[in-house]
Amino acid sequence: MSEAPRAKRYIGIDLGTTFSAMAYVDPHGTPVTIPNAEGSLTTPSVVYFEQTGQVIVGADARAAAVEHPELVVECVKREMGERFYSRPIQGRKLPPPAISALILKKLKQDAEAKLGPIDGAVITVPAYFDEGRRQATQAAGEIAGLEVLDVLNEPTAASLGFAYRDIKRKSDGQDDVLRLADETSKAKVAVVYDLGGGTFDVTVLRIEGNNLTVLATDGDVQLGGKDWDMKLLNAAAVAFKAKHGADPRTDEHVFQQMLVAAEDCKRALSARDKARMGITFAGKPVNIDVTRQQFEDLTADLLYRTESRIVRVMEAAGMSWDQIDEVLTVGGSTRMPQVIKLLERVTGKKPNTSLSPDEVVAHGAAIHAAITQLKRYQEKAVEAKAAKPKPAVATQAEMRIAEEEGSALPMMQEPVDANAETVADGIAPHPSGASTTTTAAIAADGSTVAEAIIESNPSEQYDSNDATDVLRAIQTHNVNAHGLGVVMTNEDKTKVNSIIVPANTLLPTSVTRRYGTVVSNQTSVSVIIVEGEAQDPSQCIPIGKCTIEKLPWGLRKGSTIYVTFSYDNSGRLDVKAMEATSGATASTAIDRTNAMNQVEISEAKQVVEKMVVSGKRD
Ligand SMILES: Nc1ncnc2c1ncn2[C@@H]1O[C@H](COP(=O)(O)OP(=O)(O)OP(=O)(O)O)[C@@H](O)[C@H]1O
Ligand SMILES: [Mg+2]
Repeated sequence: MSEAPRAKRYIGIDLGTTFSAMAYVDPHGTPVTIPNAEGSLTTPSVVYFEQTGQVIVGADARAAAVEHPELVVECVKREMGERFYSRPIQGRKLPPPAISALILKKLKQDAEAKLGPIDGAVITVPAYFDEGRRQATQAAGEIAGLEVLDVLNEPTAASLGFAYRDIKRKSDGQDDVLRLADETSKAKVAVVYDLGGGTFDVTVLRIEGNNLTVLATDGDVQLGGKDWDMKLLNAAAVAFKAKHGADPRTDEHVFQQMLVAAEDCKRALSARDKARMGITFAGKPVNIDVTRQQFEDLTADLLYRTESRIVRVMEAAGMSWDQIDEVLTVGGSTRMPQVIKLLERVTGKKPNTSLSPDEVVAHGAAIHAAITQLKRYQEKAVEAKAAKPKPAVATQAEMRIAEEEGSALPMMQEPVDANAETVADGIAPHPSGASTTTTAAIAADGSTVAEAIIESNPSEQYDSNDATDVLRAIQTHNVNAHGLGVVMTNEDKTKVNSIIVPANTLLPTSVTRRYGTVVSNQTSVSVIIVEGEAQDPSQCIPIGKCTIEKLPWGLRKGSTIYVTFSYDNSGRLDVKAMEATSGATASTAIDRTNAMNQVEISEAKQVVEKMVVSGKRD
């Protein structure tokens, strides 16, 4: 508390599968990439756990993988959402968020060397990341000692970077941002094709003045440049084996060398028609020549997987190609000529490759951080003025009225523990059919982190009112990538996923659906919440449970249970269940902090705080 008031500093972080980047918005309101301590604009997302206990993150860690593959972690992003990383490191099982936190710690450290204390960040994730992976990303930020202002979808960040460039250019010399919105109001519809090192996303969005609205999103979280590398590696290994009868992949060190050689060869093939990959195994050096055509044939199935998603996302957005103004490419793998050829063939347009594929996501995240910080400060100021206490738990009558009017239900104060052991029954279809109410939900207040410093007005960071006005004027609207539903028991006892919020619903949203009790005299109701599109709940990911413990005595089978899902812009889901006659309710917040529980996060944070992280080996 002794610190003088200052504006908090937030940065944007693109936490990539293979490379990470960070940016901030400078005093002129322009997003700028923050180089790492080694002077590079991107940092390999590779962590090397030295025997000494020191941790190396970045290019040196990548180099160490050849010598000590067992001590190096690559592509941890692909394992976010899993309980533990796929293999123990130095005999310890590590949760992926703790490993990611080491990458974030290095980025934070390097940013602080350039900018001074960093309080928090907006961290980006693939739009197609499910809830568990988002939660894990948020946990990683917290473990690294960052206040996670938001977890933002990568394509939204990229489009924000793109749209902001336009908005900013047009605003130069003008002091009236409202006029600006009018002048730029011709809507543009863009498709963002983002192929990185480990993930693929494709998103359709509309940019209208200062409004950026995501229409639909699709993708594959297990598809990226790494898979292209693996195709080359495997083909080279087969060629080696055919010649020398031995498989070089069996040697972990040679495997690591081959990974590097395959990626180099792939990059060379983006610039040239032919490249060479060298392998030395069991004292036998072999050079394998690869043409671009051979590489494209070898990886055609991977490229096709992206094509099928493009077609699907256009269907979901209800768009045809003549309605698309821009096709934007993002991610290092879009440098492969095969990607550009595919986009030209499918879209009939020349893709816009003017965005820096390695930096634009971090830039968008930085812009989003600046916008969020300004808005939050303003909201807090308004709140402090009004200082109105929050309403207490709503009465049954109030809830009914709220529902009948189709407005969002008031927030409940005490969420139930989603994992509490209860003897509970399910829910069934309502006897008189489904009834659904959808409304725009109330925006959530994200300010939960304890204030360590007295925050002064963040607009102090900018040297003109124009910069803050432009940032304040921008609005982004997202959709959810995956359907959210509840497990419903049919008359024949089969269980189905009853989707309440379908994929690609504009957020925030609040939907109330009517269900019935499964049996007569049911004593409790357990609503199991799942994420996914499949009808069969076992094919979906369970993400929480909401239980009404004490139903009134003597309820008939099929008695009404209302279930409300409220999903906010940053992907936080509140679920509420209410029995209609008694008004008995239960609610649960499916919060990202559930990935690791709060105790595990604080423990990991203490461990990571003590660890020495550096970009260079001694
Ligand atoms: N010139 C090039 N030709 C082909 N591939 C390239 C080229 N340059 C970079 N790449 C590939 O781009 C990928 C890295 O891109 P990027 O940094 O956008 O991914 P990321 O952010 O790490 O991953 P993700 O967004 O999937 O989490 C790597 O697989 C790299 O090999
Ligand atoms: Mg990326």
